[in-house]
Amino acid sequence: MKKIGIIGTGYVGLVSGAGISDFGHKVICADIDKEKIKEIKKGNILIFEPGLKEIIDRNVKSQRLSFSSNIENTIKQSDILFIAVGTPESASGKADLTYVENAALKIAHNLNSYKIICTKSTVPVGTGKKIKEIINKNKPSAVLFDYVSNPEFLREGSAVKDFLWPDRVLIGCENNKTYESMLDVYRPLFRNKKPIIKTDIATAEMVKYASNAFLALKISYINEIANLSEALGCDIKKVADLMGQDGRISPKFLHPGPGYGGSCFPKDTKALSNLAKQENIPLETVNAAIKANIYQKKRMFSKLKALLKNRVKGKTIAILGLSFKPNTSDIRESSAIEIIKSILKEGGIVKAFDPISNNEMKLIFPDIKYFSDWEKTVDNADCMVIMTEWNEFRSLDLKELKNRLKKPIIFDTRNIFDQNKLLELGFSFDTVGRKKIINY
Ligand code: UDX
Repeated sequence: MKKIGIIGTGYVGLVSGAGISDFGHKVICADIDKEKIKEIKKGNILIFEPGLKEIIDRNVKSQRLSFSSNIENTIKQSDILFIAVGTPESASGKADLTYVENAALKIAHNLNSYKIICTKSTVPVGTGKKIKEIINKNKPSAVLFDYVSNPEFLREGSAVKDFLWPDRVLIGCENNKTYESMLDVYRPLFRNKKPIIKTDIATAEMVKYASNAFLALKISYINEIANLSEALGCDIKKVADLMGQDGRISPKFLHPGPGYGGSCFPKDTKALSNLAKQENIPLETVNAAIKANIYQKKRMFSKLKALLKNRVKGKTIAILGLSFKPNTSDIRESSAIEIIKSILKEGGIVKAFDPISNNEMKLIFPDIKYFSDWEKTVDNADCMVIMTEWNEFRSLDLKELKNRLKKPIIFDTRNIFDQNKLLELGFSFDTVGRKKIINY
């Protein structure tokens, strides 16, 4: 059993802390935000993530997991420290490393014995080197440490599963002793036959950015092919499905939609692009993915407007789904924000519903009406727009929907509905990458 300290109880810190304690280690999750720690201790974890509360409760009960706002003590009591603080986007698009550097400094000042310092936060290539310098400059000279880059590949909405069943775990480090200690942390994963791979620090840092940017690129690519399919009369669902059957391409992340959002893809693509600029290396593919995503978000409103025959003013539009994807309350960079902004700007009226994130969206749009079910949201609306593919929307009763809407018009930006059924019921509708039907 290792004694583990996690600095930062955001998304990554909380899931990692809960997961590592579930592996049998003693974990303290620490955060400078006293209020946050108070809430977490009361059982209020503040983020919506399926399975997270259960795994936290289980490990708190068995006394393997605890929470603290005392960073100094957490550092002193731990064998391995994980830095899991935020790396927000700065005004220039670069990753802001203030929190990471502050955490490194605190670790250095409280380094009372040999420890492994491991970064989980997404940081630009070269940050490990910087962190090592900060710690070396500020630690007591007799105490030693080793550094590891151990990036996370968690997806919001399935983060607990991703942590316990990862495709791979990367250990970017400089010697075998460190690698062996990190293997001890993740040893239960061997039971699941998951590879735990040793590499160097810079490679581990790069794999994280390169993977996220690649997935973003894949989405932007299929979105552009979807837009072209619309123009050429092909059905993107069939095109993507058949493309995905090529093992080299795979069907994953080939779902067209209203543009990617969330806390990672938008931020990480920009940070990678900035890194390349600094090094004077062209990174045109990633730049194009960023540009295509901005366009895709804007395109959603143009398509809605066309579906409403260019008359948005005074129209009531029911938006179903506000989070950037299902199973999360996170609305960061959600495409719903962009479309709501445009509707309001053109004088439209928005009724909105998300199974989880109404309250989050209220902070951005306090004046639109929010509802607690889809039925009331669509009542008497001129059009319904699906922005997030929550499961409960997939199975909603289309006949009832038609009766409740003022006009049977649907914009399905996630392609969740059966077009034949919509046709049969006499809906006018548009999708992303499929045939548009206007019956009025
Ligand atoms: C992503 C990475 O998947 C994860 O490995 C990394 O650690 C963090 O960033 P996340 O942001 O939680 O995870 O969500 P993800 O499921 O990757 O979706 C990101 C965005 O892409 C969402 O807006 C989603 O709707 C969109 N998306 C995803 C598509 O539009 N089409 C797809 O085929 C897949």
